[in-house]
Amino acid sequence: MRLGFASAPIAFAPKKPAKSLAPGEKHARVIAVAAQKGGVGKTTTTVSLGAALARYYDKKVLIIDLDAQSHVELAMRGMVNAGAGSLAELLEEPTMMEVGEIAVGTKVPLLDVMPGSQDLARAENRLSTRIGKELVLRDLIDVTRTHYDIILLDCPPNLGNLTLNGLVAADSVLVPCNPAMLAVSGVEGLLGAVEQIRKALNPRLDVLGLVLTRVDQRNAATNALITDMLVENWGGLLAPVQINADVAIQKAQIEGVDIHGFDAHARAAKQYCELAEWVIGRV
Ligand SMILES: Nc1ncnc2c1ncn2[C@@H]1O[C@H](COP(=O)(O)OP(=O)(O)O)[C@@H](O)[C@H]1O
Ligand SMILES: [Mg+2]
Repeated sequence: MRLGFASAPIAFAPKKPAKSLAPGEKHARVIAVAAQKGGVGKTTTTVSLGAALARYYDKKVLIIDLDAQSHVELAMRGMVNAGAGSLAELLEEPTMMEVGEIAVGTKVPLLDVMPGSQDLARAENRLSTRIGKELVLRDLIDVTRTHYDIILLDCPPNLGNLTLNGLVAADSVLVPCNPAMLAVSGVEGLLGAVEQIRKALNPRLDVLGLVLTRVDQRNAATNALITDMLVENWGGLLAPVQINADVAIQKAQIEGVDIHGFDAHARAAKQYCELAEWVIGRV
């Protein structure tokens, strides 16, 4: 029996409704800063790298905090303008609004922030029952991307729905790692997840690199062992710049400003600038 619909024009693919944010002219590279483990320097790297890119490399940067602990806002509370909307609400009830409409500026002219909040934990739970739950953040920055050069996603320390959304929305992932065995094992877990996401959900996701952070030079033997392990397993991915443990980072976070605003001559400030230059070369 011949069914008669072959030649009829197909008219059932509705056009996506227009977003309320007008498109810009940029094409942001979206970089997820992720690791399975907490305390390895994700937030510090996101803030210090984002601030370096905006301050010294003329990049328009948006930092999005996907962690319910809201550490980005805590670390930048002395420089973030008030008045941000709720990312959790957008994740729970997507409308035509975009993250770019509810983010706020900072004292650094080219640096904007979408702070996190405790509500993200609730949003993460609600996401689990949604069809297409992995794609929500990607849709929420679809037009936002056209207003920035670089968007950095500070991911939570697990492989839950928010990190999954971050990795699906991202073009690249940057993995901070401490010179400690548990952090190295976390790298393996994360890279395995990246491989699965690349196959199933986001074929363009690449690994920008691994960066060693909070390297305390008093532990030279342990540092060398861990570095050897990283080189042996993922040598090609290891960033040529490492970030030393520097008390200026902690002092900057106590003041609520980025390391470059706190002390541009601090060792970690210079190292995060070198990391920014390396990132620009890679993207
Ligand atoms: N280079 C560094 N030197 C000194 N302290 C650091 C450095 N990087 C991070 N820290 C500190 O280590 C702790 C964990 O860093 P954080 O960036 O919050 O990690 P994560 O986001 O992975 O949980 C914070 O207290 C932070 O101040
Ligand atoms: Mg953090």
